[in-house]
Amino acid sequence: MTPTETLSISEELRERFAQANNVLVLTGAGVSAESGVPTFRGGGNTTVWKGMPFDVISSAGMIARDLPAVWEWFNYRRGLLAVLKPNPGHEAIAGWQTRFRDLTLVTQNIDGLHQAAGSHNVIELHGNIWRARCFECKARHHARELKFDNNVPVCFDCGGNLRPDVVLFGEMLPAGAFEAAAAKAHTCDLCFVVGTSAVVYPAASIPEIARGASAYVVEVNPERTALSDLCDEVLTGKAGEILPLFDQ
Ligand code: APR
Repeated sequence: MTPTETLSISEELRERFAQANNVLVLTGAGVSAESGVPTFRGGGNTTVWKGMPFDVISSAGMIARDLPAVWEWFNYRRGLLAVLKPNPGHEAIAGWQTRFRDLTLVTQNIDGLHQAAGSHNVIELHGNIWRARCFECKARHHARELKFDNNVPVCFDCGGNLRPDVVLFGEMLPAGAFEAAAAKAHTCDLCFVVGTSAVVYPAASIPEIARGASAYVVEVNPERTALSDLCDEVLTGKAGEILPLFDQ
């Protein structure tokens, strides 16, 4: 049974929103769905590239086996993303930066749409598709400047091969990213969980940490998720339609 759409914000939540100082927002693919970015699980199709499932072509094993193929796949995805714009969900969150004493935005998305909407200091748990990283000297370069040599871009600093600066299946999160998010989850008053199926860890543990630290946890999603029962409030619907309601 499809959950009933949330069309207004409860008095309780409005009050907590008005009083909050430290707010943490965790986002997933769903916050970019209204911008045209397919989700991985809920409602979107499972992506297959040249006969390879998403989690094969986007894996540490594939980088070791066939780096040019991985770049071809990420160049294709960047091509799709390049024309997409942030939606009212991204914009609402960007606006909250100046509303709260401390707003922490943690995203699982690699699409850069939060930053395109004006969000700063975004904690990117899974990296960013608009960056490349050198295998040798670890330097990071912007994807728009890459020079390809035999279908693999090379580092401007040391000439080493570059890889997408994205966390692939089977890889660890960027050093310090999860720890920074978890530290904020321990101290936030209000925690929003927007557009994630909450099945991928450790990202999905962040709202659990916030809940454990007595924060008020609010989910925004058109579907119920693995996290819904843990939330203080579940707002059923699209991020781009619900998040702007807080500023009305
Ligand atoms: N607004 C809010 N939520 C939405 C919307 C929308 N407009 N459209 C879809 N959703 C919800 C879906 O119901 C689903 O629960 O967004 C969620 C998307 O879930 P996933 O596709 O699993 O994406 P995510 O949770 O971000 O995946 C986590 O898994 O594949 C890896 O690295 C990848 O970062 C990704 C991680």
